[in-house]
Amino acid sequence: MSWQSFPKVELHLHLEGGAPPAFIRGLAREKNIDLSGIFSDTGGYAYRDFDHFLKIYEAACTVLQGPEDFYRLTLAVLEQSAAHGVVYSETFLSPDFCGGGDLSAWREYLAAIEAAADEAEATLGITLRGIVTCIRHLGPDQARPAARCAAETRGRFLTGFGMAGGEMVGRPGDFAWAFDAAREAGLELTCHAGEWGGPDMIAETVSHLAPSRLGHGINVIHDDALVDKVVEDGLVLEVCPGSNVFLGASGDWADHPIAVLRDRGVKVTVSTDDPPFFHTTMTREFEMLERTFGWGEEDFAALNQTALDAAFCDAETKEKVA
Ligand code: ADE
Ligand code: ZN
Repeated sequence: MSWQSFPKVELHLHLEGGAPPAFIRGLAREKNIDLSGIFSDTGGYAYRDFDHFLKIYEAACTVLQGPEDFYRLTLAVLEQSAAHGVVYSETFLSPDFCGGGDLSAWREYLAAIEAAADEAEATLGITLRGIVTCIRHLGPDQARPAARCAAETRGRFLTGFGMAGGEMVGRPGDFAWAFDAAREAGLELTCHAGEWGGPDMIAETVSHLAPSRLGHGINVIHDDALVDKVVEDGLVLEVCPGSNVFLGASGDWADHPIAVLRDRGVKVTVSTDDPPFFHTTMTREFEMLERTFGWGEEDFAALNQTALDAAFCDAETKEKVA
């Protein structure tokens, strides 16, 4: 069965990572920037491994140079999401790519992204919320202005703070200041952990940063006691199986731990991460879960409910989306 029109809730989507390659190529052409090195012969993004992926991702972002570019990007990404049945989405936004952490520039970028989100809600029926993310491999000093930007612009649209980037750089505790500032401002918290790092990285993330959700978190599978703790604490995993398989963070689909984790009682959700980079969509994620684990309508409805319960938005929005 095709799951394309089945309504979906997605919690883990990087806005720049959702940029269709043709969109980035178009902006590069407009601005006379040579980005030919980041594309394959067939026109997709080309990279060797995760570290190279981060470099290609950052290179693609060099064509995003002002609020208007992010307005167009947001619409392009939401068109794709809506075409795959997504009715509610949360997207990671990086002040580092939107003015470099300067608060007044960030306000302008955010206003443009929010205007595009409002337009998409009216025309495509998809609701978007934003999560500011600091970039781990840029270090804790760069995370502070990102957290300040997040804290100063918390509101109806901007509801969360998190961290992405190279997980094996530094330790979670290095970023406690940024997470504390975001928490004190009333933002909800998520953090990439356990995509590349082991159970120790997950345990440190939970104890030092106290997020309610983990980006990926799949390596919890290697520590039974930690799985029990994740279940007990009600921690929600933003699992991105297609991303994990494509980047090699897990084995093939049949070896992916999402089904075992779910059956152990972990609150798992499903997202695409950076769909064009991993040649995936929410439809494809559902299709592969059906093909690999035999999941069907009831399983997907339960996934959606878990995601909506854990969503960083108010009760009124949840009711509207449900
Ligand atoms: N930024 C974009 N995609 C990411 C991923 N899968 N892990 C860490 N940082 C990212
Ligand atoms: Zn991610």
